[in-house]
Amino acid sequence: MSDSPVLSRRPEWAALEDHRAHWRARLRELFAADPGRAERYVVRVGDLRIDYSKNLVTDETLALLGELAVATDVFGLRDAMFRGEKINLTERRAVLHTALRAPADAVIEVDGENVVPQVHGVLDRMTAFAEEVRSGRWTGHTGKRIRNVVNIGIGGSDLGPAMAYEALRAYTARELTFRFVSNVDGADLHEAVRDLDPAETLFIVASKTFTTIETITNATSARSWLLRGLDDGGEKAVAKHFVALSTNAGKVTDFGIDPDNMFEFWDWVGGRYSYDSAIGLSLMIAIGPERFREMLDGFRIVDDHFRTAPAESNAPLLLGLLGVWYGNFFDAQSHAVLPYSHYLSKFTAYLQQLDMESNGKSVDRAGRPVQWQTGPVVWGTPGTNGQHAYYQLIHQGTKLIPADLIGFARPVAELSDELRAQHDLLMANLFAQGQALAFGRTAEEVRAEGVPEEQVAHRTFQGNHPTTTILATELTPSVLGQLIALYEHKVFVQGAIWDIDSFDQWGVELGKVLARRVEPALTEGADVPGLDPSTAALVAAYRELKEV
Ligand code: F6P
Repeated sequence: MSDSPVLSRRPEWAALEDHRAHWRARLRELFAADPGRAERYVVRVGDLRIDYSKNLVTDETLALLGELAVATDVFGLRDAMFRGEKINLTERRAVLHTALRAPADAVIEVDGENVVPQVHGVLDRMTAFAEEVRSGRWTGHTGKRIRNVVNIGIGGSDLGPAMAYEALRAYTARELTFRFVSNVDGADLHEAVRDLDPAETLFIVASKTFTTIETITNATSARSWLLRGLDDGGEKAVAKHFVALSTNAGKVTDFGIDPDNMFEFWDWVGGRYSYDSAIGLSLMIAIGPERFREMLDGFRIVDDHFRTAPAESNAPLLLGLLGVWYGNFFDAQSHAVLPYSHYLSKFTAYLQQLDMESNGKSVDRAGRPVQWQTGPVVWGTPGTNGQHAYYQLIHQGTKLIPADLIGFARPVAELSDELRAQHDLLMANLFAQGQALAFGRTAEEVRAEGVPEEQVAHRTFQGNHPTTTILATELTPSVLGQLIALYEHKVFVQGAIWDIDSFDQWGVELGKVLARRVEPALTEGADVPGLDPSTAALVAAYRELKEV
């Protein structure tokens, strides 16, 4: 890769710059000139209908972006990923989250070994364990059945299962309680366990490395809470109440968890790509093994599509290219993901790690500083709440914020008739927002409504704000898998074009190292050499306030 031409010096890049320089069209005009784009600019994958007609693109734009994808060999890198090549360059690892959802008869090799049997072996063990817990056969140290499951993890070892648990709430075993603890702030664990009976509580310690300070600290405190609550059942109690999800058997054993209670995954699964691995155990207990496998099937539908669909109808490619168009040629700094589903309340938070930890990079794969923008700030919350908070800025502020609107034709089945009836109102809001953002309201239209002249400017909407609308029939486990895989591959496409390593995360290391160094200054008042004057003053103020 090191000899690949610099992205911004490629002729395909220059062609896009030129196209942008001449870009005058507004969405109103684009639709007026070509109403057919509403039908034409739609791509389907699995159960997802992705309408990208309200984007600032023409056939020519799409062709130019497609040429950039060819020049940067996005599909070549894609194939290398699916083949198990070590495309995570700085960590020298394969990137094979797609193997987690491969069928049992697939062959995917890492260092000459087929990893698919291992994947299915762990899935089978997870299935057996989940069924034990769900049926009540797995009992705690005192013989009581498990009623509470507390997942302790952070980053990818928390956000995935926590997001998917919320998303699929309607499919969960309602008689069980699930909690997710991630923050090293003791308040998180306190609130999670304060009303639970230790005798009925199972802790799932989720950590790829099993060295993450937040997780190990919380797991240690959880173990003390358990042993206190059970009048100290010792290691036997730990064995009935603690399981681990990790790649690091040695550290799991050191912590005191029996390796028999460990569900394994592998270094070729990145943390932010891991919730369909053993990291999904809490989710599997919640929704059951069958639903979990339906979710994996959903992931696979989009994997197969990304691997085989032609460029023109390849959904992740298209979404990735649209982001490149806005980020690199319109200077858009952020991307909003706005799900019109309360169940997707953690979806955007999950995508933040997926996208920003992957593509928040400033050197290319060869280590040269990039001369172009890379990953956007990803943000958003479910509609309609966001409409009454920050949509004002999207509509009438000075920033271009491309947005994805995600909605479903049907609410989940268990809602009462009265609550189901609210669904049309929810979706009316989604459609109305897409319309208002795209087409706005001109000054003439405002005047025609009799608005006093001094208010016209204030009540005019420029419009021309791009959105992509993703619709599916219902938020099922399979549809959730499809959505996540869609975004995983979109992020991949962008990283490939920007020529960055989307699979390492060195940027989170420095803070971790410095926190360990600063901690003794807070706890023991130790003199920490090398503290900068600002931080030293803050530490001194903290210690003073602590003593008051
Ligand atoms: O934030 C850095 C990171 O390494 C993430 O990539 C990862 O998901 C998270 O920490 C947790 O790591 P682990 O699963 O090893 O505890």
